[in-house]
Amino acid sequence: MSKTLTIAPVSRLEGHAKVTINLDDAGNVADTFVNIVELRGFEKFCQGRPVEEMPRIVTSICGVCPWSHHLAAAKACDGVFGVAPPPAGRKLRELCNSIAYTEEHILHFFFLAGADFVLGPGADYKTRNVIGVAAAAPEIGKKVVHNRHLGSRILNIVSGKSIHPVTAVPGGFSKPLTEHERDMALKMAEEILEFAKWGMAWAKESVFPKYLDAVKTVGVIKTGYMGTVRADGSMDLYDGKIRLMKPDGTYVDFDDAKYADYISEKTLPWSYLKFPYAKSWNEGFDMDLENPKGIYRTNTLARMNVCDKLNTPLAQKEFEAFRQAFGRPCHLTLLYHWARLIELLNNAEYAVQLLKDPEITGKDTRVPVKPRAGRGVGHVEAPRGTLIHDYETDDQGLVTNANLIVGTTHNNAPINMAVKAAAKLLIKGGKYDEALLNTVEMAIRAYDPCFSCATHNLDGRLAVRIDVTRPDGEVVTLAN
Ligand code: MG
Ligand code: NI
Repeated sequence: MSKTLTIAPVSRLEGHAKVTINLDDAGNVADTFVNIVELRGFEKFCQGRPVEEMPRIVTSICGVCPWSHHLAAAKACDGVFGVAPPPAGRKLRELCNSIAYTEEHILHFFFLAGADFVLGPGADYKTRNVIGVAAAAPEIGKKVVHNRHLGSRILNIVSGKSIHPVTAVPGGFSKPLTEHERDMALKMAEEILEFAKWGMAWAKESVFPKYLDAVKTVGVIKTGYMGTVRADGSMDLYDGKIRLMKPDGTYVDFDDAKYADYISEKTLPWSYLKFPYAKSWNEGFDMDLENPKGIYRTNTLARMNVCDKLNTPLAQKEFEAFRQAFGRPCHLTLLYHWARLIELLNNAEYAVQLLKDPEITGKDTRVPVKPRAGRGVGHVEAPRGTLIHDYETDDQGLVTNANLIVGTTHNNAPINMAVKAAAKLLIKGGKYDEALLNTVEMAIRAYDPCFSCATHNLDGRLAVRIDVTRPDGEVVTLAN
């Protein structure tokens, strides 16, 4: 008899999700859905606000990714007002971006995903969490907490606040960095760099080798990729052209303002999350595992795939080894984690570089702006993927239209596909256990999704899928 399995809540990610797995009569996987059951709706209620308020409003989208939204919004405002920040303003924005990256990547690898690797996917769920990791490896736990704290302290020094920042303003950065502040921040950034080096070496020696079989099989899907590169093809997390790569490795580079010529967003009745796809490939949208259409991925692995090199020496060395081992493009979903540690190293190195740059303490951090009717598109690479903010204003500078395409949203279709691929691989003949279901969850966790950031689809209907269950918890019907 056919049967439905649910994994709810899917834990150790940002926001909440539920996985529904439908089994056929033989107990094999017929279909899977990743249901996102929350709604943020910022695109709608930002309309009518003065555009210069956007960098402050959008930090409330998410307490985990406020810096990415803050910076993308400030860049979109630069576009609306037609200004470019002076070098010190731009570098302070980049510094905050890099430090926020180190915090995020440490959080995800060690706190959220770590339990799957340190304790193993089959560990009892009661201990398969950050507390369990801290108990199993207290020295690592201490390092992790200490280095995340250092990141917060640097952001406090540079911008007054580590969460819900206000210092990136249209035209630049509101607060110059003093020499004394720079010296304090540099010391801490150097400490984070040591941690990033240790993390990379530790994972390569003690973590990844144990899981190479899973890496080669779980949630593997063949897709295209998106990321941001400088003119010389090196990865840039703050600015540059967007590079969109096909599954065969061919690519185009384009200005963020032209994103609508290259990608489009599909809505499906069972999710508040839209499904972006590569419209410029002219093949439509299909999440079929054998023959996907228009599907591309963002976030760490995608950035490693699209770029030609990295802009810091230690990370570049790791990047070369990674590419040598796994090729370009690499489609192995669990390698998002490995790519994440390379980015952690890259950001720690870059933050130290910026803090040693004499221009970072320049007093001239912003240019003045005047309200006008305009359109501005700003994008950054958020830790979780390419983040695009697109605003239009009337002649009083009030927002008439806002579109956000959030990192996690790009990965919506791939996450659904990777879950289906993992479920099909692991669940056969109606046989499954908790370790297998957690391995399916690992296919989601690899993407470090932030669902709280990503749910802005509100086109006049509720997109929730309702499961009716018997008192014993078995699902009897599924209705839209
Ligand atoms: Mg949108
Ligand atoms: Ni977020």
